[in-house]
Amino acid sequence: MTDLVMVLNGPNLNLLGTREPEIYGATTLDDIAAMLHDQGQALGITVDCRQSNHEGHLIDWLHEAGARKALAVILNAGAYTHTSIALRDAIRAVSVPVIEVHLSNPAAREAFRHVSHVSPVAAGVIQGFGAGGYALALDAAARMRQGKN
Ligand code: DQA
Repeated sequence: MTDLVMVLNGPNLNLLGTREPEIYGATTLDDIAAMLHDQGQALGITVDCRQSNHEGHLIDWLHEAGARKALAVILNAGAYTHTSIALRDAIRAVSVPVIEVHLSNPAAREAFRHVSHVSPVAAGVIQGFGAGGYALALDAAARMRQGKN
């Protein structure tokens, strides 16, 4: 049985490619999913990529990751990062390491993006590296599996 990594994307990330490309780049979420599937295959990791504009879906999927004993969750919660205590609680409620990812670097943007409710309960954070940040996160998950982190 291969290890599972769930990649959960929050609101507005379905619009990647056309949404503020000067901030988020031209890569679509489908491109990212395809890249991660290939990378996962090379690493012996099954990658399950999802996106929802609804907070509750992200919470349900975190619970699912716990029930499926996922190796890790890669989470870009979009703007819910800055608002959702329910998401933070869900991360604490499951014993799966969560790697927080942002395409942009929220710390270098508006003040309201400087607060993350996810970071204090995340295993680590990768932000500011565009779509490549997801690849870095999957590598981090693979390294965690080998006890290298
Ligand atoms: C984002 C950063 C968030 O502040 C923003 O609300 C997003 C995308 C990112 O990937 O850079 O939707 O999570």
